[in-house]
Amino acid sequence: MITEIIKIKTAEDTAGIKTAAEILKNGGLVAIPTETVYGLAANAFDENAVKNIFIAKGRPQDNPLIVHISSVEEIYDLVEEVPEKAMKLFEKFSPGPLTVILKKSEKISDTVSAGLDTVAVRMPANKIASAIIKEAGVPLAAPSANLSGSPSPTCFKYVFDDMNTRIDAIVDGGESEVGLESTVITLAKDVPTVLRPGGITVEQLREVLGEVEIDSGILKNIEADFTPASPGMKYKHYAPKADVIILRGSFESFKEYVSKNSDEHTAVLCFDNEGEEMNLPFVTMGDKNSPDEQGQRLFTALRQIDETGAKTVYARCPSQTGIGLAVCNRLFRAAAFRIIEI
Ligand code: TXA
Ligand code: MG
Repeated sequence: MITEIIKIKTAEDTAGIKTAAEILKNGGLVAIPTETVYGLAANAFDENAVKNIFIAKGRPQDNPLIVHISSVEEIYDLVEEVPEKAMKLFEKFSPGPLTVILKKSEKISDTVSAGLDTVAVRMPANKIASAIIKEAGVPLAAPSANLSGSPSPTCFKYVFDDMNTRIDAIVDGGESEVGLESTVITLAKDVPTVLRPGGITVEQLREVLGEVEIDSGILKNIEADFTPASPGMKYKHYAPKADVIILRGSFESFKEYVSKNSDEHTAVLCFDNEGEEMNLPFVTMGDKNSPDEQGQRLFTALRQIDETGAKTVYARCPSQTGIGLAVCNRLFRAAAFRIIEI
């Protein structure tokens, strides 16, 4: 398949928006920019198109998709009812990096929900994404636009590397500002529960909802025989080809551990201004004290690690406060939970 590249600078580029929307209306797959990461979109009501998403990504069939909308009213087509808590969340955080899980309506196929009785809904803040959804006139089912197992793409180049020849078109619409996928919260349980941390922090959610639980799988390894609330959490995700090992402790002890345990196939994933002290190939994940910057940098850093050709990568451990919880969640999974206390 020849993958068309549609360059769109702003949401006012109506020609580009129309081209992308037309392909979607005709049952095609288009990768689109969002403020979190690029998404691989299809008409959520076209079951055949949605099935093609799973094929293009090599995604396991039991992993449901997020449905993207461009205004709150569109949600009534997707869900059985909109509880007050959902309305509060949409008022406060949408459009933005938040996905809310609710009981699904009959219009949502089992392909989209992977057989669950719920649907995940998100209204992206990216203006190009929003304009494409509006122009297509249908909600768009879209997982991250990477091959299953690789880091979510935060720019056109990484989408192209993974998806060229596999989908109908890729919109080249600049870099994703947040750099990590949306926060996923379910309102289908008694107590609202965060299933995946992201751009909207648990603290922010608690301010609006009061009690909010954090799913126990977020920083823990998921046992093979345990069914997580969010099916996507059981897969090893965001994985570079190298073995990533997180060393939790001070930079001094990090340097000492690495110097004793490295060879010509070792690289490090560290914070700004640390790599220069290491005498090894290194990739930085931003300022030590800026979880926001680490969020923006992490997925690019994970892909750059592979470019070093290293077999083992020792990584510094970020702080878990605020968006840092999301950064740690992604990094711990990239490391398959290999964490050494030093
Ligand atoms: O920021 C994002 O959320 C990006 C952009 C493109 O919007 N999308 C994204 O989609 O990250 P994906 O498919 O890579 O991740 C969706 C996550 C998966 O872990 C999936 O299991 C979970 O959301 N999910 C989707 N529907 C669900 C449902 N009904 N119940 C529980 N978890 C669900
Ligand atoms: Mg994904």
